[in-house]
Amino acid sequence: SAAEKGGHDYFMLKEIAEQPQAIADTLLGRLSDRGEIVLDEVRLTDQDLRDVDKIFIVACGTSYHAGMVAKYAIEHWVRIPCEVELASEFRYRDPILDRSTLVVAISQSGESMDTLMALRHAKEQKARVLAICNTNGSTIPRESDAVLYTHGGPEIAVASTKAFLTQLVACYLIGLHLAQIRGVMYADEVAAVVEKLQRTPDSLRTLLGQMEDVRELARDLKTASTVLFIGRHVGYPVALEGALKLKELAYMHAEGFAAGELKHGPIALIDEGTPVVCVVPSPAGRGVMRDKVVSNIQEVRARGARTIVIAEEGDEDVRAYADHLIPVPATPTLLAPLMTTVPLQILACEIAAARGHDVDQPRNLAKSVTVE
Ligand code: AGP
Repeated sequence: SAAEKGGHDYFMLKEIAEQPQAIADTLLGRLSDRGEIVLDEVRLTDQDLRDVDKIFIVACGTSYHAGMVAKYAIEHWVRIPCEVELASEFRYRDPILDRSTLVVAISQSGESMDTLMALRHAKEQKARVLAICNTNGSTIPRESDAVLYTHGGPEIAVASTKAFLTQLVACYLIGLHLAQIRGVMYADEVAAVVEKLQRTPDSLRTLLGQMEDVRELARDLKTASTVLFIGRHVGYPVALEGALKLKELAYMHAEGFAAGELKHGPIALIDEGTPVVCVVPSPAGRGVMRDKVVSNIQEVRARGARTIVIAEEGDEDVRAYADHLIPVPATPTLLAPLMTTVPLQILACEIAAARGHDVDQPRNLAKSVTVE
């Protein structure tokens, strides 16, 4: 009913609107008085975590995209090699695991069979297993050595939105926790990142209030035959997530690419008017990544693409290459997916609605996939 949807047309829109609160709830109480990051259940010693020499993240779908973002943060902060793998592929290639391997399983439902099987395989090989999960007491956290719950609240729409953003927050917290335990980050450095995270709900509220242009754009794009998404660094998983949302909700062909890979093949897809959504990194610091993405935008535009550019507010230089500019509040580079993902969620939702699809219950999909 309309009441259940909190006055929104779809659960998905309600859940998108709940994202600032979901992030705040997931962050609540995570920094102890002693300045330590707090998980929910830890059946491992600090020494076990100090002994970790390799991390594998396993997950499916949107949760896998959260894992891809986590890899950038964890390797940067913790300085331990971290691989991300689709849970359905993990055990079949006989990965090298032992008691100093940490396997992080990310699952909203805690019941995805592919992820559960990857976790069980890791345990058989004596790896330690840490779960990031949104569902209290579900199978994946029950079978894990440590758990960080995302406090997103129930997610009804099949398409994952607030679960994704809270998974990102959980990944950042785990990265900070590991960095702290291993002595590679001091308490004040950790606290500084947590403070930046604590500011994201407000930034996100501002962003959510500025989505009218995106809704208009959606009506425009509903007849496109394909939509491409490009990004670099953490913007790459955001591009993949934007494409996945459009596939699952609008049943349109959509693909995400690492911006740097375009010239190695996918640029041949660009035709007159092909919509290309470009996720631009922050110009802060030396802005090297940003400049590279900007030249990728110029390249696709020169070949006829219609560019939809998601860039940090105040990054006026990108305007010249943007057919549509979607500004997002400034955020530190690693945390930017908490902002840049949101217009893509709304775009997919609105395109699907404009095409007359059931946004909350897309065809052929289930909320949680409990078969392999
Ligand atoms: C996301 O929009 C999807 N419906 C899907 O990819 C989902 O993220 C995936 O099935 C994983 O589910 P889980 O997080 O519950 O394990």
